[in-house]
Amino acid sequence: MTETETETALVDFPLRQPGQSFPPESYAGYRQQDRLVRSKLLNGAIVWLVSRHEDVRAVLSDPRISSNPTHQGFPNAQRTGGVPSTDEVPGWFVALDPPDHTRFRKALIPEFTVRRVRDMTAAVQGIVDDRIDAMLAAGDTADLVSDLALPVPSLVISSLLGVPRVDRDFFEAKTRVLVTMSSTDAQREKAAGDLLRYLTRLIAIKRRRPGDDLLSRMLANGDMTPEEMSGVGMLLLIAGHETTANNISLGVLTLLQNAEWIGDPRVVEEMLRFCSVADLVALRVAVRDVEIGGQLIKAGEGIVPLVASANHDAAVFAHPERFDPGRPAHGHVAFGYGVHQCLGQNLVRLEMDVLCRTLFTRIPTLELAVPVEDLPYKYDGVLYGLHALPVRWQRDTP
Ligand code: HEM
Repeated sequence: MTETETETALVDFPLRQPGQSFPPESYAGYRQQDRLVRSKLLNGAIVWLVSRHEDVRAVLSDPRISSNPTHQGFPNAQRTGGVPSTDEVPGWFVALDPPDHTRFRKALIPEFTVRRVRDMTAAVQGIVDDRIDAMLAAGDTADLVSDLALPVPSLVISSLLGVPRVDRDFFEAKTRVLVTMSSTDAQREKAAGDLLRYLTRLIAIKRRRPGDDLLSRMLANGDMTPEEMSGVGMLLLIAGHETTANNISLGVLTLLQNAEWIGDPRVVEEMLRFCSVADLVALRVAVRDVEIGGQLIKAGEGIVPLVASANHDAAVFAHPERFDPGRPAHGHVAFGYGVHQCLGQNLVRLEMDVLCRTLFTRIPTLELAVPVEDLPYKYDGVLYGLHALPVRWQRDTP
């Protein structure tokens, strides 16, 4: 193939365009092609797009493929269109490969088991109730993104880490700056610095006065340095905040549009598959030559597995465009796959379940306050979601 032909075959970033449905219709076309698709990032780097479910799983579980952004050829997150990469923070273990990654993963797994997460039910319920109380007290309209979807995950992570109640507003305000697309780089850098300093101070306090929380237990285990623990705290915040917020807002919207499923316990798993907010999160680079889907990927070539495409692959999920909580959705890769599979997934399931049940029980007349086509979707970030979700309800709601 000549250089010109290669150029014309390239798919340009951003992959999502305003006004398009999500996942973009183009993904179905990529899945039908025999080979992986070549694509150009915003910085001009050429990467492989991986779109089929089987291939995405193969990429995410192959030890010849790395998560470490210091390797030549790694697709830079900023250049896919999203938040700056914080991979230089000690403890930022999502950017490490085994065996370096394994030490952190092993230390944290006990904190996120089904049982440990179940013990957080009352705390999560309290946080959701408080936010809904505040919405109801404020009137009969709300922006579900800023009033519910953004604060709930941040407050849950605060509670998990053992952030004192009096500091939770500070914590929420800083994390909001980090995940807001309109924040400037300078604002983000300041917020990240403030949070890291805060976490370092908190860890020093926990060392003197341990509590029943993740940071105190990490300290007692002695597996990490204080700097690594602050970095782990930041990672949990960043990995667990906007992802969950986007899933909450898109999930609630999906339920408003598919009201017959409200109250069904299976909605959460299908929402994860259907919404696939972390489409461009699991970036990789080949560190050795590897064949995926019959295509040779050479060492040093960047790879972008399209999680939303895999979750809408009709070879695995019949009629993937249908929201159908009755289907077996558990093979989805909304949380990734392999050694980096989302650590917080049980917590997400709990948060989504508590939030959806509580919201629709307490506000049964909840409805969209604007036409669905006027909703501001996030087309330009690593994550898919909504900037705002204006809703309203009838005033006599108890
Ligand atoms: C990793 C998605 C919420 C903590 C991941 C990955 C995905 C993902 C796709 C894999 C990244 C990769 O392979 O490079 C999501 C989604 C969420 C969510 C869709 C919400 C709907 C959370 C929450 C937490 C969390 C609430 C913690 C409080 C993490 C961590 C990792 C991770 C620590 C890195 C794991 C590792 O490298 O071993 N997440 N996540 N996530 N997630 Fe989540």
